[in-house]
Amino acid sequence: MRLLLIGAPGSGKGTQAERLADHFGLTHISSGDLLRRHVEEGSKLGQAVQRYVSRGDLVPDTLVMDALRKPVVAASESGGYILDGFPRTVEQAELARATAKELGVDAQVAVHLDVPREELIRRLLARGRGSDDTEDVINHRLEVYDQHTVPMLDYYAQRAELVRVDGSRSPDEVTKELITELEKVQRSLTL
Ligand code: AP5
Ligand code: MG
Repeated sequence: MRLLLIGAPGSGKGTQAERLADHFGLTHISSGDLLRRHVEEGSKLGQAVQRYVSRGDLVPDTLVMDALRKPVVAASESGGYILDGFPRTVEQAELARATAKELGVDAQVAVHLDVPREELIRRLLARGRGSDDTEDVINHRLEVYDQHTVPMLDYYAQRAELVRVDGSRSPDEVTKELITELEKVQRSLTL
């Protein structure tokens, strides 16, 4: 199975993606984790993306695609992927679809983890990840989400590939519902 996990900063994408990867035998690929790893390693790509990530701005599409291409193709060849944090804009969704279709690795389902704003802020402030979990940067990341990613939900909804899950409950409850929903999708894919 090849799936996209969409959600605001702090919605639990990383937390749930790891569990789903275990359950369904998929490779978890987080665009944010990949970009942060490049920054830590000081690679050329890392140097190019550092200022965007620390400010909570979107990294330019070509750089994100460069980081993702290889891992996505490799995962598709070994059981499928769960892509967390990509795509994030309508443009990325269109670009990803065109590129992935050509390679035969396009996503089959998109899941939206829906969580109210106050809960997102509470979780992110409690976590305090590096330079992008300060109050100002959190607020900016949430604005970027509203402006660029929320319109992308429509893009998938119109194609009937979108499953919405209430992500505000406990991690175990959210996992349980995700597994139920994705098992339905999996059955429909094998029909
Ligand atoms: P990214 O790393 O994707 O960050 P994000 O979207 O802001 O999301 P987070 O990783 O902060 O949250 P999450 O949804 O994974 O939640 P988590 O499970 O950690 O992106 C970072 C940056 O990289 C971007 O700002 C951008 O610069 C760049 N970037 C990435 N992708 C890009 C793209 N496609 N295009 C351009 N730029 C891109 O949970 C959060 C906290 O809540 C944790 O402490 C967790 O333990 C807790 N928690 C989780 N679930 C629950 C629950 N159910 N109840 C209570 N607490 C919970
Ligand atoms: Mg994450």
